[in-house]
Amino acid sequence: MNNQNTSQGQRVIVANTEGGVGMAAAAQVLMAGGRGLDAIEAGIRPVELDPTVRSVGVGGWPNLLGEVELDALIMDGRSLKSGAVGALQGFLHPISVARQVMEQLPHVFLVGEGAARFAAEIGAEAGENRTDESRQQWAEWLARYVPADLIAAWPNVPLAPWARLTADPERAGGTTTFLVRDANADIAAGTSTCGWAMKYPGRLGDSPVIGAGGYADNRYGAAACTGHGELSIRAGTARSVVLYMKMGMTVQEACHEAADDLRRLVREFPAALTIHAIDASGAAYVVAIGKEPGTGWYWYWAEGMPSAEKRDAVEMQW
Ligand code: GLY
Repeated sequence: MNNQNTSQGQRVIVANTEGGVGMAAAAQVLMAGGRGLDAIEAGIRPVELDPTVRSVGVGGWPNLLGEVELDALIMDGRSLKSGAVGALQGFLHPISVARQVMEQLPHVFLVGEGAARFAAEIGAEAGENRTDESRQQWAEWLARYVPADLIAAWPNVPLAPWARLTADPERAGGTTTFLVRDANADIAAGTSTCGWAMKYPGRLGDSPVIGAGGYADNRYGAAACTGHGELSIRAGTARSVVLYMKMGMTVQEACHEAADDLRRLVREFPAALTIHAIDASGAAYVVAIGKEPGTGWYWYWAEGMPSAEKRDAVEMQW
């Protein structure tokens, strides 16, 4: 794997580790002259349908009630318009619903029943995101941690004591993120996730929160985060990276400054967070904080490359 990229002024896609299944479709959109926003949607939709990607869409981790609640955002760096959905249930493509929030509504963020109502109104694809495997893992998790008398009464018991158990770094976070620069030099960002495994119902992570999980501004660049989203919400990480570039930092300097902000946060749990970023020319930089050494990497494609390749992230400890 190569290290960080410094390619200038071209069509570019940066996606996190989970995005591999969508890279070819996203690149195809760009090579056909399509918009970055369309490439984002084309790239994320296959990830949402892939049951092997446990932190996104079909097969995603359930919450404490055994339900899969999905979050997504999309942002257009040309207009700074954005759309997001949170805690959406019963639909297969939260990224496309988020896109339509941006395109059709005077709002930027819908959650829960309102998001599902809107998804139904626009004819979004309804579907079951739970799989046999995810149902079984939820039942096994319950059986392992929760006393039998409480399981019998579940979910009519206080759930808060169990939420703390769910901060397992292996399953707290995940997400897919795509950053794209198209042939018009327009930049866009997109994310999609089910959030933490066994999260408290209604919990939103950073992925649908514009400025935390993702942000894009043609003038400076874009950023998106994966991992323990509570941290990037608290630090406003994606917006910070773009703002640091506005203040004159390179994409590398901006990521390191945002990483420093994160490292100053008081953390109650072991956590990992990865910042993915591109600047306005498409130069990419990715920094992984708190991951096991040797596990930080991402997908990169730029025009002229026959296919996407894996690249190493810069790794940092807390
Ligand atoms: N970064 C995904 C989440 O915390 O939900």
